[in-house]
Amino acid sequence: MRENIVEYLYIAAGLSFVFAIKWMTAPTTSRRGVLAGEIGMVLAVIGTFVRPEVTQFTWIVVGLMAGAAIGVPLAAFVPMTAMPQRTALSHAFGAAAATLVGVAEYIIREPHLDRFTMVVLGVEVLLGGLTVTGSLMAFAKLQELIQGRPVVYRGQNVVNLAVLAIAVVGIVWLVIDPTATVVFAAVVVAAVAFGVLLIIPIGGADMPTVIALLNSYAGLSAVAMGFALDNKVLEIAGALDGSSGFILAVVMSRAMNRNFRNILFGAFGQVTMSARDAEADDRPVRSGNSVDGAAILDGARLVVVVPGYGMAVAQAQHKVRELADALERNGSEVRFAIHPVAGRMPGHMNVLLAEADVPYDRMVELEEANELLARADVAIVIGANDVTNPAARTEPGSPVYGMPILDVDRAGSVLVIKRSMAPGFAGIGNELYYLGNTTMLFGDAKTVVGSLVSDLADGG
Ligand code: TAP
Repeated sequence: MRENIVEYLYIAAGLSFVFAIKWMTAPTTSRRGVLAGEIGMVLAVIGTFVRPEVTQFTWIVVGLMAGAAIGVPLAAFVPMTAMPQRTALSHAFGAAAATLVGVAEYIIREPHLDRFTMVVLGVEVLLGGLTVTGSLMAFAKLQELIQGRPVVYRGQNVVNLAVLAIAVVGIVWLVIDPTATVVFAAVVVAAVAFGVLLIIPIGGADMPTVIALLNSYAGLSAVAMGFALDNKVLEIAGALDGSSGFILAVVMSRAMNRNFRNILFGAFGQVTMSARDAEADDRPVRSGNSVDGAAILDGARLVVVVPGYGMAVAQAQHKVRELADALERNGSEVRFAIHPVAGRMPGHMNVLLAEADVPYDRMVELEEANELLARADVAIVIGANDVTNPAARTEPGSPVYGMPILDVDRAGSVLVIKRSMAPGFAGIGNELYYLGNTTMLFGDAKTVVGSLVSDLADGG
């Protein structure tokens, strides 16, 4: 009877997770999706409490309280601009749970492990272990606790594959002889080391793809845990997490024009860092103030706005909406060009612009945006940098080389709003700022866009 209740609760939780993912695919239904995910999680926790083998609740309650004590402040206080590192941290927590459960199950069952269970425990600690350290490294890079530039050395792929091979051979060994506890420990150590090696060659611009991949590994580790514990909700939720993370990683690697095989083995960063140090570059740029900017915008038929991370930092989205309204009143057609990795999380720009009530039909994706940019009178780059860097097309040694960018340099005139000549996330200079049709409007995005709005109104 109790077993049946558990199964029903788990099936209901699994369905909630399926609907959560389905609804989260569109901005209009995404809130419902989050709610469905939360309901699924509550059902899964209740289901676990009801399981007949769970007889001691003290440590579960302690765990729940500790999780809530960490999770609630994380949700409430971490700003949206720090969402990728917060997500990386969550992956590390989830994967740590899977790895610890895997180790505990091995210790409890060690002399009597059948082959299937040994395989799933091996996979669980391998994927879990590499996700823990990989996600912590990603967190540290994104939070700028360690340097974000790729660390690349000769023979890197061989070292990475050798460490991975140690873990895989260890698992095969354990399947033959599950009592080899030292080998189990070696598998865990190799997995944890592989996580670090996987992330060190990854440069800034490729981090979003890797985070999606780590998400997938954490999910697959949970599937293995589900098999080991015979827990259906872990199998369902882990499979959803694993497959959706994997699909996202593939989609993002395509969007970034990266070879997916390289991502799987952490072999991106094979670039020679040829980019010049942006701030040390003393070539002159043309800069102006908001009056100059308004003069350039006055009379423009088509204006393409390119928002980036700086718009999020400045929280300038409402002012940007006001600017679009002012331009439309002035007779311009306005579109917002959304690069798939602009900002610091997938959909970052869409969310901010939607918050400022910019209609969805004004937001255009990369391909269409580039068609518009080729015939736009003015492109306004607001706190975006890497996603507009022409080095992606022209400099084979650059870390962003090959990544599709928004071709703002092809617009008639370009206005760039940022505070200084400092580089963006990838840490490299941007040739766009030195082009003849570019005018830099230095300052905080919210302030400069606000001044543009008033100067446009004065001019009109
Ligand atoms: P970035 O290349 O990071 O450039 C942002 C620019 O905004 C900076 O150059 C900065 O210049 C400017 N800025 C910062 N604060 C500002 C403010 N208050 N007012 C005006 N400007 C400000 O941004 P991007 O073009 O959006 O590219 C995103 C980068 O992040 C890519 O490399 C991408 O791969 C990476 N990334 C993306 C994600 C996802 S999934 N979207 C996740 C992790 C990493 P100043 O300091 O001179 O103002």
